[in-house]
Amino acid sequence: MVNTKPSDEEILKGLGVLDDEEQSDSGPDVAFSVDRGPSDEPLPEEVSDEDLVFDASELSVFYGDFRAVRDVNLRVRRNEITALIGPSGCGKSTVLRSFNRMNDLIPSARVAGSLLYRGVDLYDPRVDPVEVRRRVGMVFQKPNPFPKSVYDNVAYGPRVAGRKKGLDDVVENSLKKAALWDEVKDRLQDSAIGLSGGQQQRLSIARAIAVDPEVLLMDEPCSALDPIATARIEELMAEIKSEYTIMIVTHNMQQAARVSDRTAFFSVELDESNDRRTGVLVEYTTTEKLFSNPDDERTENYITGRFG
Ligand SMILES: Nc1ncnc2c1ncn2[C@@H]1O[C@H](COP(=O)(O)OP(=O)(O)O)[C@@H](O)[C@H]1O
Ligand SMILES: [Mg+2]
Repeated sequence: MVNTKPSDEEILKGLGVLDDEEQSDSGPDVAFSVDRGPSDEPLPEEVSDEDLVFDASELSVFYGDFRAVRDVNLRVRRNEITALIGPSGCGKSTVLRSFNRMNDLIPSARVAGSLLYRGVDLYDPRVDPVEVRRRVGMVFQKPNPFPKSVYDNVAYGPRVAGRKKGLDDVVENSLKKAALWDEVKDRLQDSAIGLSGGQQQRLSIARAIAVDPEVLLMDEPCSALDPIATARIEELMAEIKSEYTIMIVTHNMQQAARVSDRTAFFSVELDESNDRRTGVLVEYTTTEKLFSNPDDERTENYITGRFG
């Protein structure tokens, strides 16, 4: 299946920034003009609008008045795997959560700067965060199956979205895409809690896929898994990237080097304005370049094990 890109109008409508009436007369004065924000300058590396999924520009994320991470300039391309790496506490999870507004669930969290998803400001007050999270799904470090059957876990999202028909097909297709179908097809009604850790993580992926997202965010999805289960998830990512855009946080540099197309390296610096350590995006480029010939000395130090 080819990833068909929805029209800009469909995206605006789906995200709640354009309602039906406005859509029917989308003349020059539509309710929501697509403001490309401060990143209007030429792209450092070519990327067509069609392939540009996220465009983060001077993004910072705060918890209260603590700026956890700053200087996030990141263009995420369609059907690529983008890895976020760096030492613990540099803000990888914080940044990842800002890409589907999961940080909204943390009362003190706030973003500054601009983050566009398909040209739409993700933090525009008209954008519906629930719809954002359907389009931009998330898989967490620890597999988190609901204490329900395998089937009900995968059917959960579609049911919440009001879907009643065709659930069997959705469940089967999602489990197939997550490379789990053959292992569970005869135990769909068994509790998901009985699956192995690796199976549970693939179930989490199936559950995310079941609502037909465009993007999958994965926060250290393999860190609780053994090497064989890890290899299966890595294979799976390679298989599904033709249909999805994937962002993965990993503390494992080898994993980033194996699976990703581009890598963003974050470091931690002392923020002199408040004397606290703040994360900073140091370098973002192709994975090949980042691991063979990085531009920044801090990247070089980190990837060669001279911790920076
Ligand atoms: N919910 C939170 N409230 C306050 N501070 C937080 C919260 N989550 C993370 N932080 C802080 O933000 C910084 C970045 O954390 P995090 O994004 O978890 O880093 P990483 O995923 O790279 O290890 C750290 O200083 C951390 O203590
Ligand atoms: Mg983290």
